[in-house]
Parts: sequence; C-alpha cells; structure tokens
Amino acid sequence: MERLQTAISKARAKQGQNHTSRTTVNLQAHAQPLGAEQWQELPEIALSKPALQRNRIVAMDATPEATPFDMLRTKTLRTMQENGWRRLAITSPTASCGKSTISLNLAFSVARQSNTRAIGIELDMRQPNQNRLLGVKNPRSNKCSVGDLLTGDAMFGDLAVKLQDKLALVTNDGPVSNASDVLLSETVGQVLDNIEAQYQPEIMIFDMPPLLVNDDAMAFMRYVDCALIIAAAGHSTIAEIDRCERDLASQTNVLGVVLNKCEFTASGYGGYGNYGY
Ligand SMILES: Nc1ncnc2c1ncn2[C@@H]1O[C@H](COP(=O)(O)OP(=O)(O)O)[C@@H](O)[C@H]1O
Ligand SMILES: [Mg+2]
Repeated sequence: MERLQTAISKARAKQGQNHTSRTTVNLQAHAQPLGAEQWQELPEIALSKPALQRNRIVAMDATPEATPFDMLRTKTLRTMQENGWRRLAITSPTASCGKSTISLNLAFSVARQSNTRAIGIELDMRQPNQNRLLGVKNPRSNKCSVGDLLTGDAMFGDLAVKLQDKLALVTNDGPVSNASDVLLSETVGQVLDNIEAQYQPEIMIFDMPPLLVNDDAMAFMRYVDCALIIAAAGHSTIAEIDRCERDLASQTNVLGVVLNKCEFTASGYGGYGNYGY
C-alpha cells in the first residue's frame, strides 16, 4: 500500500500541470436561468433499495456507509468549485475497478447537498452497467442511446431520467455500437454545452471506459475539466496507475487516484474500500 501511495505521489509531482479551465468560459457565455423547469419535466424512476444495497450503491441517504463517498464529494467539489470546473470524468486503468459504482455513489452524494444538481452520463458504451447496479429497468434507455445523445440525434430531455429531485442520469440498456466514433463525433462539445446551459447542473459526472484498453476514454477527455482515476486494490498495478496519470495529465486535470476494493479499511466500513485520494 505504501509503495502504491509513494508511486502515486511521485507521478503527481512529475506532472503538476494545470490545464486551463474550459468551463469558466462557458459559464460566462451561457448566463441562463436556472433550468428548474427542464428538471421538472424529466420523468422520475423508482429505486429498489435492496438492489442498491446489494450493489454497494449506498450514498442516497446520509448513513455511515455513505461517509466515504461524502468525503470524496466534499474534496472533489471543493477543488472543482475553486477552479470553476463542472465536468468530471471517472476512469480506471482496466475494467471492473469500480468506476460505475463510484460514479453513481458520488452523484447521489452530490445531489443530497442543498442546491446542488448532478447529471450523470454513462459513457462506458461497450460495457454499460449502471442499470444493473441501480436494479432498474430504465424505460428510456432502450429507445435511444447515449450515442444518439452525443451525435445530436436525441435530446437530453428525451433520454434522461431523474432518480431524485436533483440527480438526472443517462444510462444504456446494452452496448452501443460505434462507441469510439461517437466519442470522437464533432457534435459532442456542443451537445454538452447545451445540456449545461439548459439544465444548469453544478456537476456533470461522466462514467468513462477504462483508459488502457482502447482509445475511447482519451478521445473524450478534451471535453472535461478534470478526472478521477479509480484503481482496484490487488488488481491495478502501479505501472498501470502511473501510465493512466501520465496519459490523462496530457489532456485534463487529474484530481487523484481513488483506491477501491480495499479489504481492510481504516473507516471500519469494510468492503466499501478506501475512497481517499
Ligand atoms: N468496493 C468494492 N468492493 C467490492 N466489490 C465492488 C466494490 N466496488 C465495486 N464492486 C463490484 O465490482 C464490480 C465492477 O464494478 P463496476 O463499478 O461496475 O466497475 P467498472 O465500472 O469500473 O467496470 C461490480 O460487480 C461491483 O458491484
Ligand atoms: Mg462501468
């Protein structure tokens, strides 16, 4: 563990690069009303508490289990707000490190704060998992996909569902074809600007594909303000994490590495990992 922490600190010290804030410019260009009407129009889907609990989606209520995610939220939001950032990518070196689990918990934790709206978009189009983790059959995700959203063929308002008053999600029923092409499509920037302008979320959380498997995630990083790397204890190697940090730092601001799936945690909430970074 110590070696991992040292390697991460070293990699970070090497980078120290701060990418210019893209969102600050957007915010000034899109001084819009608050978007409350648009949020009201999104349909709300019911959550199944047993499924959520089974899949470690625990941050919708202020319970001890939610504490690690609340700490991650506070730290992440503070850095983002200080820098005027609103778009966060969550990625990992390889599959199954816990990106979707942490994206959803972080989104719930953010939405629990007063006056803070969160939008989550599932972009791991080859291996979508959010509907399963949430235990829901999202009635909207089988009509069109996030691919249609990013290419401008479907509107956010036609695809997104509300899980709570202040949390909206776009999820996928199954793999989306042409995932790489979609993430490279010229319309992506404008689509994201439009969502921000209309819905005015404090944060958009993008549940990304793994970084070292193909080019999908890197292609999208130019559209976000910052990124978190999720590493799985006992699975992700120091070399993988180091490479992720270096690659990501060439495109965006790396907030840090979250070590997930720790068997032993200082918090005592065993099994939920150490979400410190
Ligand atoms: N802290 C954890 N402890 C144990 N299992 C976890 C933890 N976080 C996630 N998982 C499980 O690992 C699997 C992969 O998680 P997921 O969030 O879908 O990963 P990814 O999105 O990175 O592919 C899921 O079955 C999930 O429930
Ligand atoms: Mg996933």
